[in-house]
Amino acid sequence: MDIGEIRKEYTQSGLNRSDLKVTPLAQFELWFEQARKAGLDEVNAMSIATVRADGMPQVRTVLLKQYDDRGFVFFTNYNSSKAQELATNSKTSILFPWLSLERQVRISGEVEKISNTESFQYFTSRPRGSQLGAWASEQSQIITNRNVLKATMQQIEDKFNDSVIPLPDNWGGYRIIPELYEFWQGRSNRLHDRFRYKLQSKKWQVDRLAP
Ligand SMILES: Cc1cc2nc3c(=O)[nH]c(=O)nc-3n(C[C@H](O)[C@H](O)[C@H](O)COP(=O)(O)O)c2cc1C
Repeated sequence: MDIGEIRKEYTQSGLNRSDLKVTPLAQFELWFEQARKAGLDEVNAMSIATVRADGMPQVRTVLLKQYDDRGFVFFTNYNSSKAQELATNSKTSILFPWLSLERQVRISGEVEKISNTESFQYFTSRPRGSQLGAWASEQSQIITNRNVLKATMQQIEDKFNDSVIPLPDNWGGYRIIPELYEFWQGRSNRLHDRFRYKLQSKKWQVDRLAP
């Protein structure tokens, strides 16, 4: 099949300046809730980009677990590749591809680690299996086969038995503090709507961008 022939007209909706919420957070919340109510699969899945020390960008999916006026929080292993990249360059960009609504939202900003207390609060809300998994996986390290994971998981299970599982030192959250948001709504003839909110002198400047 010639995949060059795969194309779709975007006709579901439009985005006018007069539709926009005053703050990008309120606009994000509106779209997030619309995506959630529309039943989109993994609505909180986002791509997150980091940059390696040699300048090579890396992108992967993580799950958004909290958002409010302080920023956007996800959880991961603090020794993973992404964590090492964020330690040398704390700038990042995330993307929500809400394609069945013909929408995407892009956010960029700097990350900071959240407090251990906050990470612990979220960690304890996770299913026990996920808590054990966080202990068992040295995320981003090379392993010889799946048995390595199984054996480590068994050791961890035996170690904690039925007791409360503590927060691993190398696991927790990052908060992305946005300085730029872009809301994209697909339109017909590729003349899509794009609005960018950019933080300037502590105020959000809003501009329409050419598609
Ligand atoms: C739907 C989906 C959700 C994911 N959620 C997370 C997550 O919340 N945290 C995480 O560390 N990895 C998550 N992953 C795995 C990452 O994409 C990635 O493989 C992992 O974090 C290692 O990335 P790194 O080696 O670049 O650090 C998810 C993957 C998928 C496909």
